[in-house]
Amino acid sequence: MAIDMDKLNAFIGQFVGDLGAAVHTGMVVIGEKLGLYKALAAGPMTSRELAAKTATDERYVREWLSQQAAGGYVTYDETSHKFSLSPEQAFALVNEDSPAYLPGAFQLALGSLAAVPRITEAFRNGAGMGWNEHDEDVFHGCEKFFRPGYAANLVNAWIPALSDAKQKLEAGARVADVGCGKGASTILMAKAYPNSHFFGFDYHDKSIANARESAKRAGVADRVTFEVAKAKAYPGKDYDLVAFFDCLHDMGDPAGASAHVRSTLSKDGTWMIVEPFANDELKDNLNPVGRVYYGFSTLLCTPCSRSQEVGLCLGAQSGEARIREVVTSAGFNHFKRATETPFNIVYEARP
Ligand SMILES: C[S@@+](CC[C@H](N)C(=O)[O-])C[C@H]1O[C@@H](n2cnc3c(N)ncnc32)[C@H](O)[C@@H]1O
Repeated sequence: MAIDMDKLNAFIGQFVGDLGAAVHTGMVVIGEKLGLYKALAAGPMTSRELAAKTATDERYVREWLSQQAAGGYVTYDETSHKFSLSPEQAFALVNEDSPAYLPGAFQLALGSLAAVPRITEAFRNGAGMGWNEHDEDVFHGCEKFFRPGYAANLVNAWIPALSDAKQKLEAGARVADVGCGKGASTILMAKAYPNSHFFGFDYHDKSIANARESAKRAGVADRVTFEVAKAKAYPGKDYDLVAFFDCLHDMGDPAGASAHVRSTLSKDGTWMIVEPFANDELKDNLNPVGRVYYGFSTLLCTPCSRSQEVGLCLGAQSGEARIREVVTSAGFNHFKRATETPFNIVYEARP
């Protein structure tokens, strides 16, 4: 078969970008862990100055800065030979509360990639891998990556998009945050709605221990309880709101979890399901966001579901039709897409 040289060259060009991005993952994690971005935010500096400021080795720092400048994460001035961060670079790389804080995503990617040998075997033997079995960077990276998005959207846009949840939360409601991980979403809601009580559940004990610490640090521990529990068995009844953030598709038996939510909601309660943005058809997910999610889904979400009972393996790109099917199969009569962002869809289900 004849090779089209233009197409080949374009593909090789894409490969160079992809390979650079793959190595870049580790570079961002190093930069964040050593405080290099934060130190650089003070103003233009040489590699020697940045190394001195961060108590690091100048030769390593110079190589890192060069790689960062080549990738557009750091700005290089060829006259002064100094490196700096533009306001946009600093916004995304320094400020952990910025809605576009990026380093957590790379930490999550690095932690996920540590599972590659095991997942390679899983392709052969079909075994699962629980969320709890992953590298620590997965838990911390996940929280760091997701929290800024929740901080920007949850209280301002997502809860107001639900039928009457906002009013109930303001007046005083009982809320369960299931699959809460390290509790970022639970704590954000607790801070915004001081009259309400929040119960965070996750089957991963270490995440729950971290969540308890965070609640204490945030000063909301009196209104937030975190407990290790599976989505099909968490305690409590008559919740006004049950929330699932980016976890329904990770569960082995999401239909079983839906049935449990139904049995723990008050008669006019609301189930908020936040899922990764996805279209129903594969062809419509073949884009940069879909690429990110299918990758994480292969390493994290699909094996997590496979490791549990039923092992339905919805995957992170299941789309509205599949989520609707799972939710309504458990007896929810109302289901709708409440709102969306480029990265998430927020569904509302009611009895
Ligand atoms: C992608 S993380 C999302 C964590 C958190 N909701 C967030 O948005 O940052 C998925 C979470 O679901 C939890 N999980 C998976 N299966 C579960 C189950 N059957 N019951 C409870 N939690 C589960 C995992 O332990 C993990 O914390």
